[in-house]
Amino acid sequence: MLCYEPTNGNSSPFRRDYHPPVFTCIAVAAAGLDLNCGTFLAQHTVAAVQAGKLSESDVDRAVTNNLVTLMRLGFFDGDPRELPFGNLGPSDVCTPSNQELAREAARQGIVLLKNTGKLPLSATSIKSMAVIGPNANASFTMIGNYEGTPCKYTTPLQGLGANVATVYQPGCTNVGCSGNSLQLDAATKAAASADVTVLVVGADQSIERESLDRTSLLLPGQQPQLVSAVANASSGPCILVVMSGGPFDISFAKSSDKIAAILWVGYPGEAGGAAIADVLFGYHNPSGRLPVTWYPESFTKVPMTDMRMRPDPSTGYPGRTYRFYTGDTVYAFGDGLSYTSFAHHLVSAPKQLALQLAEGHACLTEQCPSVEAEGAHCEGLAFDVHLRVRNAGERSGGHTVFLFSSPPAVHNAPAKHLLGFEKVSLEPGQAGVVAFKVDVCKDLSVVDELGNRKVALGSHTLHVGDLKHTLNLGV
Ligand SMILES: *[C@@H]1O[C@H](CO)[C@@H](O)[C@H](O)[C@H]1NC(C)=O
Ligand SMILES: *[C@@H]1O[C@H](CO)[C@@H](O)[C@H](O)[C@H]1NC(C)=O
Repeated sequence: MLCYEPTNGNSSPFRRDYHPPVFTCIAVAAAGLDLNCGTFLAQHTVAAVQAGKLSESDVDRAVTNNLVTLMRLGFFDGDPRELPFGNLGPSDVCTPSNQELAREAARQGIVLLKNTGKLPLSATSIKSMAVIGPNANASFTMIGNYEGTPCKYTTPLQGLGANVATVYQPGCTNVGCSGNSLQLDAATKAAASADVTVLVVGADQSIERESLDRTSLLLPGQQPQLVSAVANASSGPCILVVMSGGPFDISFAKSSDKIAAILWVGYPGEAGGAAIADVLFGYHNPSGRLPVTWYPESFTKVPMTDMRMRPDPSTGYPGRTYRFYTGDTVYAFGDGLSYTSFAHHLVSAPKQLALQLAEGHACLTEQCPSVEAEGAHCEGLAFDVHLRVRNAGERSGGHTVFLFSSPPAVHNAPAKHLLGFEKVSLEPGQAGVVAFKVDVCKDLSVVDELGNRKVALGSHTLHVGDLKHTLNLGV
């Protein structure tokens, strides 16, 4: 249970419903909450004690715990300015290695979603690059919400401009891109006369942030028109870079043969523009993967208040998340391309496993869809999956191996779920072994109709990319 501050204005209708009333917060404080993020307890605790809803001893306990924590952290050990962490400042934070870390984090977060072969670009053969879009020269936008103070920014325009000559056009005066903020002519002219076009679009905190939910999955305002017109007018390859926290339905760009490549860069931080250039010019081989499903715009018709995970064919409810969602996706959870290719080969995994049920267990005599996911038959029941991963392409690169399992169709089980992931870094032609330990009762269990965790009996499919392996689980 969370104690939320009622925010001023701008709360979405959903959010407002979920603000628990004051008495809920007081009950939570009595149940052991010592601190809330904000001023809620400070504002309401005295009134709650006076109204007899909260005892002073509960307040004493909370205050004691908070003070003890401060003591352990050294807050009372002397002049705070002389404590080990008292004098830290930009000279400690903005070291070359920390700035390189910001750039490396941004590189690793970039997800390549489409590449018709035009990426990576060759900096030496490009004489001019059109850098277009409301996020093309983004600075503050790159550091997202709950941000610190960056040492400096490298905007996409600056990052790209460090490699090739650029022409900049915002295309829209802001990401909202509504009304007459669209500046198509200048943007299409720039795209028509450059060797390559990079469009940087997406969102910022005027579109999505805490207390401001999007109601559409489409690019804001007239951004789709900007993208289509610029892609159409480009004389060279047109590369679409989406800078955002949330997903977008960019089906039109995915299927357009005028758009050579698509990258999602998240809100990449202070060095984001340098990292985007590193990826576009091939100084870094992208290895990021989508952390969420990118749903089509039609998914916004599903009420947010319907939180069922499982699809309901009788009403057309599509379900939620990569585990259960049955509808079309724009991009799937885990999607992400590389400039090289990786081949997976199964080294070892069992084909058959039996759970040793206690004598007299009903499932020894009758056919059961599943058995309890706890008990003696679960103790130490685990196996290893060994895979050989080979970099089959021409460039070194990182690769995240996702191990999924599709359970047998019992208890409305998910279509698949992620058992684990491991990242390897391989030179061209190099191979490495990736190992996963699978705990049968924990990893191969599903939740039944009554909310109990059960090990599904029958045929489980383990998959990594296109590689599939069948494991039969019996008793
Ligand atoms: C790009 O953004 C930077 C940082 O905010 C700013 O200094 C610079 O003038 C901008 N460039 C253009 C061409 O607007
Ligand atoms: C693309 O270009 C063609 C020919 O120049 C034009 O007829 C068409 O309207 C353009 N489409 C868009 C979306 O701008």
